[in-house]
Amino acid sequence: MITEGLKGRDFITLRDFSKAEIETMLDIALRLKADNVMRRQHTDVLPGRTLHMMFFNPSLRTRISYEAGIFELGGNAHFLEPSATRVPALEGEETAYLTERISDMARVLSRMGDAIAIRILGDVVGWEYDKGQRIIQEFAKWSEVPVINMEDNISHPSQGLADIMTLSELYGRDLRGRKLGVSWAYSPSTKKPIAPHHDFMYAASLFGPDIVFAHPPEMRIDPEIEKAIQTNLEASGGSYTVVDSMEDAAEDADVLYAKNYVALDLLPPVTQEPQHEEMSKLFEKYRDWTADKKRMDLAKPDARYMHCLPCDRGFEVSDEVLDGKWGETAFDEAENRLHAQKGMMASIIP
Ligand code: CP
Repeated sequence: MITEGLKGRDFITLRDFSKAEIETMLDIALRLKADNVMRRQHTDVLPGRTLHMMFFNPSLRTRISYEAGIFELGGNAHFLEPSATRVPALEGEETAYLTERISDMARVLSRMGDAIAIRILGDVVGWEYDKGQRIIQEFAKWSEVPVINMEDNISHPSQGLADIMTLSELYGRDLRGRKLGVSWAYSPSTKKPIAPHHDFMYAASLFGPDIVFAHPPEMRIDPEIEKAIQTNLEASGGSYTVVDSMEDAAEDADVLYAKNYVALDLLPPVTQEPQHEEMSKLFEKYRDWTADKKRMDLAKPDARYMHCLPCDRGFEVSDEVLDGKWGETAFDEAENRLHAQKGMMASIIP
């Protein structure tokens, strides 16, 4: 495996990696996936390595795929629940004997393992937009082993890697001429992160698709990430169009990626406190934004529906779409979490 320049690196955002580096991780992921299908073992890739996994938020896919992934590469995982270990704290935010300063935790964990993976977003950081990523960066500053972001409010790079792996299995690495319809979708919850949208579009933008992104005017994404997506698309031969209806995103699309996410303008730092009640009222205005058969019928006959899961059935997507000919790809996408993360861990963990 040629992983030059990748060993020892942190995996915090996809923007920290070049397209070539992301392709290296994908190449390894695809080889390991083929091995899985053939029931070949590859426990010699990271033998005896330990992954510390720290979850501040619930998870099904991320926990299981990292745990199974490191095990299949020959290592093992520790699931650390912060309430059972003590809450990591930034300098100045400590409470005696309830929290532990991140600089200390990172150095201790580094001495007992080979990588530290962290998920921290939403309520546990008061919806402060960049706080989760600042905490993960603080771990990375003090850790002597790679730090992996398992999702914060801004980024979900493991998901983005699995998404682009899924797209490349469908269409190859050259996505020029492919229309990716991307959309906000309705959910009664006001707590679904925006990170998967960011990283779905960011990862895809490296490979030249035509992204048509539909959202109600109040549901903007991070302008810095939007700019990076546009810059990538200019370089890769794709295009970026923003529209205001899911129908426009779905029309003639190869893929419709439709999922709910929070309204950033009703969260800190724009507001002092998260405005969930107001957000709920706002979402009700767009209650019919569901990926349903009527919308999928506007897309190409062999179009796929994608969603990082978990999804809110009957709200973000209808049962007919998720369980029909369009929805299987969302489960390929979930499976690829395992393979893509194995490719990434094999690349960065020394
Ligand atoms: N897509 C994803 O990250 O799923 P989990 O929240 O179940 O980990």
